[in-house]
Amino acid sequence: MAAGHKRILQAFLASEVTEGAGCRLSRALPTTQLRNLDPFMLFDHLTNATGQFPDHPHRGFEVVAYVIDGLVRHEDFLGCTGETSAGGGQWFTAGKGIVHAEKLDSRSVHAIVVWVNLRSDMKFVAPAYQQFTMGSIKRAEDKGAGISATILAGSALGETADTFTRTPAAFVDFQMQSGAVLTHPLPPGWNTLLYVLDGRVTVAGRSFGSKEAVVLTVEEATVQVTAENACRFIILSGQPLNEPCVQYGPFVMNSRDQIVQAFDDYERGTNGFEGAPTWRSQLFYGR
Ligand code: CO
Repeated sequence: MAAGHKRILQAFLASEVTEGAGCRLSRALPTTQLRNLDPFMLFDHLTNATGQFPDHPHRGFEVVAYVIDGLVRHEDFLGCTGETSAGGGQWFTAGKGIVHAEKLDSRSVHAIVVWVNLRSDMKFVAPAYQQFTMGSIKRAEDKGAGISATILAGSALGETADTFTRTPAAFVDFQMQSGAVLTHPLPPGWNTLLYVLDGRVTVAGRSFGSKEAVVLTVEEATVQVTAENACRFIILSGQPLNEPCVQYGPFVMNSRDQIVQAFDDYERGTNGFEGAPTWRSQLFYGR
């Protein structure tokens, strides 16, 4: 194990893109700077987002949605409906196949969306949801140090979320007062992305602000972050799968053939997409 804190491998500003039906967002993954950070395939930051995500499929990974402000309603072709409100989150397994719709039910949704890849032998597990409200999500605080954390998965400040992640991963939203110093342990060997939401932080002697993504070295067991002012940032960390990976549209598989198969299954309604060809969401097509 390397001594000292994690250093910086790469840092860049998230790219402004449009997704779904007119949703403007800042994207850290995939971008021209970084295609993915195994096991993470996508990292989107929705700020004041409007726009919608009508019926669409997924296969082969898990989707994390952490809603900071606003409300996101969802509905899937298995009959699951629900909503994630401000301060809540969802850790959702698409597995062998899901078709769903998402509606941003507010004029200003502020949220983080992450795709976590699944190992080849888990890509065809049944879809599953873990849903959290502001009241049920794990929180931790170190008042003396001026640090608080919302833990969607993994551990921080001595607390551990009970979220089950098929791919070992941690997602923590930290808030720090000016001058606070966080020394946060992470499993060595995991890939780690720090993403700044608000304020400025210093990591490994460099200063970063809002919408900057910082990729950290993997060997060291801790990351150290200093708050230059009142700040808020996400630390996302996960065990790399080290498998071949092909990401195309809404599917993340191990080969091109499996991507072709996914489109075929979605069109025919087979191998996990039973019912998909005739399903229409109430959210978008209901009366
Ligand atoms: Co989706």
